[in-house]
Amino acid sequence: MTLSEPAVEETPDALIQLMSPAATEDPYPIYARLRETAPVFPSRFGAYLVTRYADVEFVLKHSDLFPGARPEAMAEMFPQAVEHEAYDVLVSSLVGSNPPKHTRLRQLIGRGFTSRRVAALQMSMELWSDRLLAGVSDRLNDGETVDLHSTVSVPMPMHMISDLIGIPEPDRERLAEQVPEMMNVVDPAASPDAVRRADDAFRELGEYFDVLIEQRRRDPRDDLVSALVSARDDGDGRLDDAELRNLLFTLWSAGFETTATAIDNAVLLLLADQARGSWLDTEDGTRRFVEETLRYEPSVQVAPGLRFAAEPVVLGDALIPQGAQVRLLIGAANRDPAAYPDPDVFDPSRGGPMPLSFGAGIHYCLGAGLAKLEIGVLLTRLRMTMPGLTLAGPPLRRRTVPLRDFVSVPVKLAR
Ligand code: HEM
Repeated sequence: MTLSEPAVEETPDALIQLMSPAATEDPYPIYARLRETAPVFPSRFGAYLVTRYADVEFVLKHSDLFPGARPEAMAEMFPQAVEHEAYDVLVSSLVGSNPPKHTRLRQLIGRGFTSRRVAALQMSMELWSDRLLAGVSDRLNDGETVDLHSTVSVPMPMHMISDLIGIPEPDRERLAEQVPEMMNVVDPAASPDAVRRADDAFRELGEYFDVLIEQRRRDPRDDLVSALVSARDDGDGRLDDAELRNLLFTLWSAGFETTATAIDNAVLLLLADQARGSWLDTEDGTRRFVEETLRYEPSVQVAPGLRFAAEPVVLGDALIPQGAQVRLLIGAANRDPAAYPDPDVFDPSRGGPMPLSFGAGIHYCLGAGLAKLEIGVLLTRLRMTMPGLTLAGPPLRRRTVPLRDFVSVPVKLAR
């Protein structure tokens, strides 16, 4: 199966190790061992785990050799889900689709989701940062411990995506609650009841988006839904309503936990060494701090796109058979010493290749610019308004794969 046999005899399987409490604390030693001994690891769970920077980048940039999931393969992987509406929408999402459909959708959405529109959100980022920080400052000033994760890191991206899309403020929290529900449809361990709730969540969101689309068609505003309603492709067709609705599902779900986790990580790295704060004195320093946070502790540790070899492909020193699934371990690639000297050191001054935190190639994250900008704005406001902020106890991480996210980040003001 491989040109040189990798060290696969380890028990438990690397994927199980990555789901262990030890990996939740620190997955990086596991990644290092995989990179050194089995950089293309055939997991017993039916996927090759890829850990070296060069290999992960190669797969991301060769979507012809490693296209997204075929519907039959998906049906085999998620047998409990195929009958469900929620599943249909996930399978036909942007990250799950291949050219030419992907190219067309990406072109159309690109006309609305422009860097101008993201830059125009800067003022709203500042307002939301100040509002959310003000919401916790009294409690902090009274000596209380506050969970920064639930009070600031989670609501910030929710409001930014809502402002971008055009979702009115009173509706946001209710719609945000549907996101974890609908994601259950692709959890192989989800109960039949959880999968039914995923359908309900999709239905509720779908009905909401249909009404929003109709409203903006009648009465366009300066928001993404209005821009997408009028987006035309290179022929004379529009995005049809089902495609538009699916894009809204994707946007609404893709940027929440990912960005909240990145905010948590950035704050933790800042609080771990106050001298790092000087990076936030300039725009360039802030940009570097955010980039390095995302390299050093990428929110998304395993690329969400499912990829299958279109033909037998040699990757590193392994042969991936045709039809085999590959999973890309971004967290491992970003700490590859072959790409970054002293990869385990947090150093915003470092150069080197582009970290793979937002992917690369045709599925490169659509929200990367938005996420980086909002993390930078929030960090600088936090440093300005709460110079005495410190950790009040150990942060609690939820898991490492696929997302290395948090349950809580307790903070207080130093006295
Ligand atoms: C720090 C925050 C974020 C991280 C770490 C992140 C990470 C990623 C990664 C790794 C991919 C590539 C998936 C793959 O190739 O398998 C991706 C794709 C994507 N992301 Fe993000 N993301 C973030 C924020 C956002 C936000 C805020 C949005 C929406 C506003 C968003 C929307 C998307 C979409 C639509 C795709 C699919 C693009 C395509 O298939 O063409 N992401 N993201």
